[in-house]
Amino acid sequence: MTVNSTIHAPSASNKRLRLLEATMKRHQYRPDALIEVLHRAQELFGYLDINLLLHIAQRLKLPPSQVYGVATFYHFFSLAPKGVHSCVVCMGTACYVKQAAQLLSFLEKTTGIKAGETTSDGQLSLMTARCLGTCGIAPVVVFDERLEGHQTVESVTARLNTCLSASKS
Ligand code: FES
Repeated sequence: MTVNSTIHAPSASNKRLRLLEATMKRHQYRPDALIEVLHRAQELFGYLDINLLLHIAQRLKLPPSQVYGVATFYHFFSLAPKGVHSCVVCMGTACYVKQAAQLLSFLEKTTGIKAGETTSDGQLSLMTARCLGTCGIAPVVVFDERLEGHQTVESVTARLNTCLSASKS
C-alpha cells in the first residue's frame, strides 16, 4: 500500500472538509453535536483519522481526549483505515522527546512497513498522530484503539505479538 507516511490534518481546500464544516455550522458548533458530527465525518472520509478527530475537537471546542474517547467507545466508528489491526504512534512533542521516533522506527523495521502503510497481508496498519491529548503518559501508542502510555520497545513488541498472534488463532 502506498500512502503518505503520516496522517496529515485535513486540507482546508478539501471538499469533504467543507461539507463537514457545513454540518458543524448547522449544529452551531455545539459540543453536544459531537456524535452527529463524527457520523458525518466517517460518512465523508470512510474512517476517523486521528487528525480529523483533532480538527473536530478544535472546531467544537472539546478536549481531544473526549472526542477520541467517544470515537473509540462506539463500535460504529472506525479509526483504522485498512488493516485488521491498527497501531498509532503519537509523534507529538511530548511523545517525541520521550523517544517516540525510536518506537516508530522499531515498529517500521519489525513490520516491514512505513507509517501510513498496511502490511501486504492486510493484518496491520501503522500510523502516526501529532498529539493524542495524553502527554502526561508519553510516549503513547494506540494498538487497536486501546491507548497506552509509557511505551517502550519491549512493551510495543509484546503488544504487536499479541495483536498479530490473536489474528492467526
Ligand atoms: S504528544 Fe503524545 S499524547 Fe501529547
